[in-house]
Amino acid sequence: MPFVIYAAPNFTENAVRFIGTLANLEGVRLGLVSQEPKEWLPSEVQSKLADFHRVADVFDAAQLEAAARALSARQGTIHRFLAAVEQAQEPVAEVREALGIAGMGVEAAKNFRDKGRMKNLLRSAGLPCARHQKVVSNKAAFEFAQANGFPLVVKPPDGAASQATYRATNEAELAHALSMNPPAEGNEVLLEEFITGTEHSFDTFSIAGKPVFHSLTHYYPNPLEAMREPWIQWQVVLPREVESPAFDDIKAAAFKTLDVLGMGTGMSHLEWFRRSDGSLAISEVAARPPGAQITTLLSRANDFDCVAAWGRLMIFDEFPVPERKYAVGAAFLRGMGQGRVQQVRGLEHISAEVRHLICDAKIPKHGQEKSKSYEGEGYIIVRHRETAVVQQALSHIVSTVRVVLG
Ligand SMILES: Nc1ncnc2c1ncn2[C@@H]1O[C@H](COP(=O)(O)OP(=O)(O)O)[C@@H](O)[C@H]1O
Ligand SMILES: [Mg+2]
Repeated sequence: MPFVIYAAPNFTENAVRFIGTLANLEGVRLGLVSQEPKEWLPSEVQSKLADFHRVADVFDAAQLEAAARALSARQGTIHRFLAAVEQAQEPVAEVREALGIAGMGVEAAKNFRDKGRMKNLLRSAGLPCARHQKVVSNKAAFEFAQANGFPLVVKPPDGAASQATYRATNEAELAHALSMNPPAEGNEVLLEEFITGTEHSFDTFSIAGKPVFHSLTHYYPNPLEAMREPWIQWQVVLPREVESPAFDDIKAAAFKTLDVLGMGTGMSHLEWFRRSDGSLAISEVAARPPGAQITTLLSRANDFDCVAAWGRLMIFDEFPVPERKYAVGAAFLRGMGQGRVQQVRGLEHISAEVRHLICDAKIPKHGQEKSKSYEGEGYIIVRHRETAVVQQALSHIVSTVRVVLG
């Protein structure tokens, strides 16, 4: 039975779901590397692990390599080494190369991790994306603003979940954004032309560089807006229609993007914009399963287990294409202001028609802290065969449910 390693820094709800699913895959022995002690996992997950190795820092390639060697000494050859967390992609690729484990190598991992390098490659291939520049000084940042005008986006070249990402519409806002994360030698900051338009994802499963399944989502509003306005109960809608002519251009551009960056076998989460003139721009791509509940949306839309399918794809290079049955959407429940959850109002006013569309929900609990992430304090997921019905249901939910903080 193949021995597979999975690296996860902490046992978040999402991490436990991934670890539990991979540990339960038939024909796989799973070794886990984490910063947290094994005993913090639910006992039914612990009992399924073949082995465990604790490290101080999962993002440190040297520590990961030592962990992989220790696990291999006990369990034999490592068949695959996986991780779903964005910041782990490059160190895991380094260990794959050091130990001769199949899977994405360092050069490709960097293409997906470093948004400046990514955009250089995309532009050279003729793919549309924002003008950009990495800077190591305020002077260079203001020069970029002079040359390209406002508004601009200021962000880390290798961020995730919209952390430390700012929109600057004038010099004062640019100065403020730079003061939050000052550019310097050894701390590159990425500046980008601000793309105005709607924002979407394009999510793909690929085998040996060939896309075998894809899907997309619409963000209402976009993640940066959701971070700037921490009370917005934003929505992610996954339409049932995938093969619509309206998406032909993004499908072609997304597949070319994956090819240019060096996607082999795995799942990718690409983000893109549709400008008001109809043209598109590629925003960024990650070589891992998506966040923002999109793996659950995919599971419900195709009536399969997206995380288990990702595991089998990564471990056995197989992907039985599931049928698309539903449109699905998530509404993120978020309170206004600061503090802890006092109450969730309005759940009883969700109409009966919408109630029976709910397939998953995490209702915020009394005393829970305000979330720092755009995923909010909780969520409600609905599904129906018609995309419009899902959209109406989500609108009803976000206008009916209120998370009260205090
Ligand atoms: N050039 C840009 N134009 C417009 N919005 C942007 C741009 N770059 C980033 N954003 C906004 O910031 C969010 C986070 O940036 P992104 O590059 O996707 O980083 P992350 O890795 O944090 O998801 C995006 O989802 C988008 O809403
Ligand atoms: Mg993003």
